Amino acid sequence: MSDSNSGQIDNVMQEDRLFPPAASFSEKAVIKSMDDYQQLYDRVKADPEAYWEAEAKSELHWFEPFDSVLQKDGIDVRWFDGGKTNICYNCIDRNIDAGHGDQDAIIWEGEPGDTRTLTYNQLHHEVCKFANVLKGLGVGQGDVVSIYMPMTPEIAIAMLACVRIGAIHSVIFAGFSAEAIADRNNDASAKVQLTADGLWRRGKIIPLKQTVDAALEKSPTVEHCIVLKRVENDCDMTNGRDHWWHDLTSEASDDCPATPLDSEATSFILYTSGSTGKPKGIRHTTAGYNLWAKKTFQWVFDWRPDDIYWCTADCGWITGHSYIVYGPLAAGATMLMYEGAPNFPAEDRFWDLVEKYKVSILYTAPTAIRAFVKWGDQHIDKHDLSSLRLLGTVGEGINPDTWIWYHEKIGGGRCPIVDTWWQTETGGIMMSPLPGAIPTKPGSCTKPLPGVVPKIVDESLEPVGVNQGGMLCIAEPWPGMLRGIWGDEERFKEQYWSTVPGCYLTGDNARLDDDGYYWIMGRIDDVINVSGHRLSTIEVESAMVSHPNVAECAAVGRPHDIKGQAIAVFITLKDVEASDAIRDELKLHVRKEIGALAVPDDIRFCEAVPKTRSGKIMRRLLRDIAAGREAAGDTSTLEDFSVLAKLRGDED
Ligand code: WT7
Repeated sequence: MSDSNSGQIDNVMQEDRLFPPAASFSEKAVIKSMDDYQQLYDRVKADPEAYWEAEAKSELHWFEPFDSVLQKDGIDVRWFDGGKTNICYNCIDRNIDAGHGDQDAIIWEGEPGDTRTLTYNQLHHEVCKFANVLKGLGVGQGDVVSIYMPMTPEIAIAMLACVRIGAIHSVIFAGFSAEAIADRNNDASAKVQLTADGLWRRGKIIPLKQTVDAALEKSPTVEHCIVLKRVENDCDMTNGRDHWWHDLTSEASDDCPATPLDSEATSFILYTSGSTGKPKGIRHTTAGYNLWAKKTFQWVFDWRPDDIYWCTADCGWITGHSYIVYGPLAAGATMLMYEGAPNFPAEDRFWDLVEKYKVSILYTAPTAIRAFVKWGDQHIDKHDLSSLRLLGTVGEGINPDTWIWYHEKIGGGRCPIVDTWWQTETGGIMMSPLPGAIPTKPGSCTKPLPGVVPKIVDESLEPVGVNQGGMLCIAEPWPGMLRGIWGDEERFKEQYWSTVPGCYLTGDNARLDDDGYYWIMGRIDDVINVSGHRLSTIEVESAMVSHPNVAECAAVGRPHDIKGQAIAVFITLKDVEASDAIRDELKLHVRKEIGALAVPDDIRFCEAVPKTRSGKIMRRLLRDIAAGREAAGDTSTLEDFSVLAKLRGDED
């Protein structure tokens, strides 16, 4: 094992199960074998410009051709410079031109059970009208539109309308506070705000307009606010500033040609919280982002014309941008979009939807899967899930035992699982199994996609050996990469480009195994150093979750006089009450699974672990609690504040 100064992380996870794709799946797949994958990967690596030139020409519409494929000047990267295209045109008009105007684009179901379907033609009509509405309010190229809306088709319509006219959208997840909206609006100098009278969540109305009203008091740059009627909730409308969506669109023309935009024109900014400090507006551009979202969608989801694809994310996150709106629509897919909670009216809502719409590809998050495990198999057994052929996960690592459950219970043992590793910053998926080609290992995101060149180094920037964890970087530019942090060039440089010269620093730790498979080991900050052994949180958590009574586990380090750090775990139990007996049993279990080194000093039982609104465990808070400190940092991204209060009250 390595010593504490090498910067390497000890690998204690032993996961040998291997799941090759079924021959029947591979036969029909876009990429059919490991050889095909390897050949493509090597070809792109050998001459990325030749590959991406051909792809850009065949996969996107060009109003004007580009002069160069890739220009790189330090951290300033330009893809397809000189060309003019339009993301909205590529997502809608191009599919209509190809004869798919009457194909369903979005099949939507609201939480109360109301439904709507939009074909590509109908989507075109709605998007053009709304683009004209924006123009009518003075929105032009480069203006920022702030979007705080429910998951109805209008959120996609709004995003597409923005990119159609070169306006820059900033989508803010409709669970954030007024303060958080105002911060983001001010940072971006947003000109127009889009919202709704409310949204449905677990059968209740969550008012959005009131929150926006409070935010707009502190957002001086916002001139207009457009309000969608979704729940018939009363709202105050400020004369001159506020307008009803239906009033403006009823008068708007549906003639709005897409604006030819520079390849490197900013398409959107999306705020993501760093581990500390103020949120950063990740800036993406036009042609490269569009191409990356489309290609990765086709590769990873192995999309075929008869698929019904469902990504359960919210458009407030990058997953919703790239794999609800831009990737699937650019590829001409038919998707399901759902507004509400997974447990309304009951814990089987997702499975009800899968059965009803014959969903064939399901893309969701480990946090949701853990909730399904906890809720029990009876909710799944009621439904016919035989339409499913492919499953995906995103957002955090998946514990091998949760993976196996997903594979067996949801996938019926027949569906490959694509564990997709990527980030808001990467624009699209970076590492993932290609489902017809790459045998999967539970807990591993397997291999880099063509065009992605990962590198793992230790703190002295030396490449680490096989099965040694280190910092994960990306050594070559890819089309979907972020181009900056809005208004903060310095932070962009400092955060992503200064640690490992010439490489993009992901902020994650990873290791490569003997088969060349990648294993993400969590954020660099999440490492626990016990007596000089650096352990990754995911490995401790996976060992815990492999115990039948553990539904969820979060592991953090806390200061320890002798060991440097001790491990503290927060556990949600299933089918058993908290007791000293189960505590002892869990310690024994970890000793058996990993070894004495990884046995936690503290085991705390809780009803739920604190998570961000995007479902990630808030380790920073847990570190404070484990160390007996008052949780001091920013808690504005916390999903459920009562969880924190309960944890603080827990005198373990
Ligand atoms: C961070 C990025 C990617 C879109 C949604 C989240 C973690 C994400 C995985 C995965 C292990 C993962 C990483 C990454 N992460 N996917 N499959 N396995 N970790 O986007 O909020 O920008 O978060 O999420 O730590 O850096 P994000």
